[in-house]
Amino acid sequence: DLLTGRGAKLVADAAMTGATALLLFLVGLLLITAWSLIKKPRIPGPFFWAGLGPVLSYARFIWTGIGTASNYYNKKYGSMVRVWINGEETLILSKSSAVYHVLKSANYTARFASKRGLQCIGMYRRGVIFNSDVPLWKKLRTYFAKALTGPGLQRTIGICTSATDRHLECLQEMTDPSGHVDVLNLLRCIVVDISNRLFLRVPLNEKELLLKIQHYFDTWQTVLIQPDIFFKCGWMYKKHQQAAKTLQDTMESLIERKRKAILESEKLDDDIDFTSELIFAQNHGELSSENVRQCVLEMVIAAPDTLSISLFFMLLLLKQNPEVEMRVIEEIHTVLGGKDVLTVDFQNFRVLESFINESMRFHPVVDFTMRKALEDDIIDGISVAKGTNIILNIGLMHKTEFFPKPNEFSLENFDQTVPNRFFQPFGCGPRSCVGKHIAMVMMKAVLVTLLSRYTVCPRQGNTLASIRQTNNLSQHPVEDKHSFAMRFIPRTDTVHTQN
Ligand code: HEM
Ligand SMILES: *[C@@H]1O[C@H](CO)[C@@H](O)[C@H](O)[C@H]1NC(C)=O
Ligand SMILES: *[C@@H]1O[C@H](CO)[C@@H](O)[C@H](O)[C@H]1NC(C)=O
Ligand SMILES: *[C@@H]1O[C@H](CO)[C@@H](O)[C@H](O)[C@H]1NC(C)=O
Repeated sequence: DLLTGRGAKLVADAAMTGATALLLFLVGLLLITAWSLIKKPRIPGPFFWAGLGPVLSYARFIWTGIGTASNYYNKKYGSMVRVWINGEETLILSKSSAVYHVLKSANYTARFASKRGLQCIGMYRRGVIFNSDVPLWKKLRTYFAKALTGPGLQRTIGICTSATDRHLECLQEMTDPSGHVDVLNLLRCIVVDISNRLFLRVPLNEKELLLKIQHYFDTWQTVLIQPDIFFKCGWMYKKHQQAAKTLQDTMESLIERKRKAILESEKLDDDIDFTSELIFAQNHGELSSENVRQCVLEMVIAAPDTLSISLFFMLLLLKQNPEVEMRVIEEIHTVLGGKDVLTVDFQNFRVLESFINESMRFHPVVDFTMRKALEDDIIDGISVAKGTNIILNIGLMHKTEFFPKPNEFSLENFDQTVPNRFFQPFGCGPRSCVGKHIAMVMMKAVLVTLLSRYTVCPRQGNTLASIRQTNNLSQHPVEDKHSFAMRFIPRTDTVHTQN
């Protein structure tokens, strides 16, 4: 009896302890939840769901492309969203105050991407575009900044107009039997010629180089955020590495040619180009040969990947808005007025500039940019931990704040001066587009030259809305000759440009 009595008491005690433990556990859980809710305002976004949420959001990024997925999440959850990419917390921001905060700050000068992916294409801790070794990136960026800003703007205009003219002279060779020209190909040839004449200055085969650039770009967007498992099978890694290597090898041989040219030249040029600067820096032991190669490569791909597609979109938009085309042409008439294009002040192309701005707002090529938080911070009242990935969804920002006709193409959107923080097609601050000023000049010069000689006519039915596009690493048309076919009709009211 005594024994059973004691046994029962023991069991009862154990049950009590168990119940107390459970109660304590539940209270604890409640406290933790409440605390986490109070501690940081919850950022909207898909649920974690025991790890299913991260898998699903990552899958969306891989399958639909980074740009498309970012727009989906911002539209579904609001202008500040938390998702996961490769298991890492990622914020997608389309709210101008938050975007501006990140752009301006020195705490977001790194980017995020798959380490293996970047290694595969030679961008890991190399070059400038995706280099997240901050001290090295800073050093390399100075070479880009020197080549892309400051004096030499007049030289840029001259090179852009003469390269455009030269390719327009050969229009016949590029025209197919039905009278159409692959305009994207034409623009790419013009732009790669300009880049070469500005930054490299060695004879090269444009068509071949362009194919390799496109190949590199495709590989880049394929590997950029792939999971490590994607690279586990060696042949996958090798395949993409090989694709990147074709362009790397070409750059290597072009740089080698440049080295020879420098050695053979009697006198030093008074204006030293980008590639020469890098070669000299390597000779002085300041840069590795891999970095020289990667920097030249990135300088050569930057414009064909952005400018030529922007210009292509602009030609389509111009055709869809005849009254805008008329205003642009009238302004070109007025500003040039029979003068040499090199003597006119490009600041005077106000309508053209509004048109370029509105095109980049309405249908951008670069829709977003990828950053990484280097320190703990608070963005718009939300605490952000060091290491958080950030996507600045600039394209969506331009369609949700400030502009009077956000979803229409209208020059009225730029009738009044737009405050800085609402319009950032190139970003701003320490990690902004280092080519932002030269890009504006290039677009103006190419458009003035082209439009003063020709009006274009897309193959029937082709509009910006009808051509197939993807929004992966950037928003661009799917390679399809039919989409790019345009007829070039000489203007009868020729605006004379003299070169
Ligand atoms: C329409 C044309 C262009 C657009 C819309 C554009 C836009 C951009 C944007 C949004 C970024 C990211 C900025 C950020 O993270 O805040 C960027 C980066 C960059 N752009 Fe451009 N860009 C254009 C043309 C060019 C050209 C012509 C060049 C060079 C010749 C160039 C060179 C670069 C480089 C090197 C970076 C990386 C900068 C860094 O990470 O430090 N871009 N561009
Ligand atoms: C993203 O880019 C890769 C490489 O060009 C392509 O294979 C893939 O189809 C693209 N994704 C989408 C959704 O367009
Ligand atoms: C982060 O920002 C703070 C304040 O703006 C600044 O003092 C600090 O130096 C920044 N850190 C880095 C790594 O730039
Ligand atoms: C076009 O946008 C730039 C910012 O990228 C701005 O500085 C400029 O004033 C704008 N031009 C016009 C005509 O609105």
